[in-house]
Amino acid sequence: MRMRKKRRCAERLSALSSIFCQNVADFDNDRDLVFDKTRPVRVEIGCGKGDFICEMSKVEPDYNYFALEKVSDVIVLAAEKYASSRGLGALSPHGFWTGPDGHVYEDEHWDIPIDLRGNVRFIVGDARETDSMFRPSSIADIFANFSDPWSKKSQADRRLTSPVFLKKYNDLLAAGGTFRFKTDNIDLFEYSLETVRASDLELVYYTNDLHSSEKNEGNIQTEYERNFSAKGFKINYLEAVKK
Ligand SMILES: C[S@@+](CC[C@H](N)C(=O)[O-])C[C@H]1O[C@@H](n2cnc3c(N)ncnc32)[C@H](O)[C@@H]1O
Repeated sequence: MRMRKKRRCAERLSALSSIFCQNVADFDNDRDLVFDKTRPVRVEIGCGKGDFICEMSKVEPDYNYFALEKVSDVIVLAAEKYASSRGLGALSPHGFWTGPDGHVYEDEHWDIPIDLRGNVRFIVGDARETDSMFRPSSIADIFANFSDPWSKKSQADRRLTSPVFLKKYNDLLAAGGTFRFKTDNIDLFEYSLETVRASDLELVYYTNDLHSSEKNEGNIQTEYERNFSAKGFKINYLEAVKK
């Protein structure tokens, strides 16, 4: 995702650092430091501007969620969208986070009480490093939505459904956990069907037209999904399970 540099990105990230988390594995002995309640954990890889994670975490609240995104200028928008959707304030027209009590966090971290932080934490990082972020077999579901197609053959390893990434997902998922992938890009989808079939995950469902399928009920659309769908593109979807 190309994104112009965000005004005061560092200050904005710092204001909401209570809902960010870098290395989840570090907190394993004391999960209470991350979430107020222990729940099964879901991860979205490449959360973009956060529409999916904000909606999913509300509609299916019995999970704790991590939203991973490598671009700071993008994840800051996702975190702010989530924080304002949970009544934690808003970005002021001057570009500073303003809490619900009117306090302006100009250059200051806000220690949000854990019971107000809700069930999503954001991670600025690369999916290549997920094995240092999470413990093996600790994740209930992994979502990857509209990831970059990296169309050149020489860049295939960067695709989030390349064998390298599928091996990581398989290691992170608990038995019975799912990997769910959506894309408008048919070449990437066909590639992904092949790599999933060749992986240790079991392909259990796929469709070339998610919005006309039985899986459409309960489907939560992402920013890219709405844009592509409005332009007439069909949305491809696959689901694979850790054996
Ligand atoms: C095309 S956008 C899609 C955003 C959102 N998921 C949606 O469907 O609207 C892909 C996003 O994934 C992020 N991304 C791509 N590769 C990544 C990686 N290896 N680790 C973390 N984030 C990644 C990009 O920075 C970008 O924000």
